Amino acid sequence: MPNRSHFNKGHIALNVLKKKGNLHSSLKVKKNKIDKNTHAFLKIDCLHLLKKIPDNSIQLIICDPPYNILMAKWDRHKNYTDWASEWIKEAYRVLSLDGNFVIFGGLQYQGEQDGGDLLSLISHIRNSTKFNLANLIIWNYPNGMGAQRFFANRHEEIVWLTKTKKYYFDLDAVRIEYDEETKRLYKKDKRLRPESIDKGKNPTNVWQITRLNGNSIERVGHPTQKPKEIIKRLIKSLSYEGSTVLDFFAGSCVSSAVSCEENRNSISGDYDSKIFKYQKLQFKKLDKKFLSKSNQIFENEFKKHPIFK
Ligand SMILES: C[S@@+](CC[C@H](N)C(=O)[O-])C[C@H]1O[C@@H](n2cnc3c(N)ncnc32)[C@H](O)[C@@H]1O
Repeated sequence: MPNRSHFNKGHIALNVLKKKGNLHSSLKVKKNKIDKNTHAFLKIDCLHLLKKIPDNSIQLIICDPPYNILMAKWDRHKNYTDWASEWIKEAYRVLSLDGNFVIFGGLQYQGEQDGGDLLSLISHIRNSTKFNLANLIIWNYPNGMGAQRFFANRHEEIVWLTKTKKYYFDLDAVRIEYDEETKRLYKKDKRLRPESIDKGKNPTNVWQITRLNGNSIERVGHPTQKPKEIIKRLIKSLSYEGSTVLDFFAGSCVSSAVSCEENRNSISGDYDSKIFKYQKLQFKKLDKKFLSKSNQIFENEFKKHPIFK
């Protein structure tokens, strides 16, 4: 029984490509192998940092902005959407043509403080920018606060935006392996291709990943530190080796730590001077084999980063 996706032009074109053994254009970008990756760390306001970055130079922006719910001293911005519209505009400018931009946020805080939730950002992005919305990812965590007046919240959202429709996306890099029993059963099914079964399954846009608890070994002290597992999935699928990942609300510097492990360059900025303390702790936790390949640079030397060359 056909469903709507059988008539979707994109799906039909992808199937034709697959049958001919060709790759989608998103995977044809050159994968720059590099010997050393470079990571810049700056104590700087997000807009000041963005203004320093050349047009079309960044492959992936990981953006986990303040939530505007007074969680910490930094978590307050008047006229939130107006302020956010400025960094969203700059993000569009610095992103490469096949680049990706992900924004973390929640829908739970609607109307709390000057409209600082993801709904108001998505509405602004839809109405006033050229960004293409590729996916809304639901990050479902099993652990969290209890509630009495509503169902306890167990998810946060990640909006994945692209500058053009020819965005880079490496699904194979983040497929999830089937367990042996499922593999065995699927391989008996003549309609399924054995190579596809071996590659693993699409992780879908619902990601069940535990939030870091207080005593997690990943913790470096930042109150809203994101788990490496999420950042890794984003970096591996939406950027390629040798490209640059930017995080202008860097917090614990987890994006740079994962970029180092995955052989990407990175730029991390945060207006809190604790960025340097967190950077040190993150990099101390890395395996020596990654450290020996990484070039770490700070404020006054940031122009040594490859995107400025
Ligand atoms: C939600 S946290 C980011 C957490 C980070 N993703 C992590 O996993 O550790 C937001 C960060 O934005 C920073 N911040 C807030 N306003 C800023 C601004 N105008 N410019 C630069 N950084 C800012 C805060 O200091 C805070 O560390």
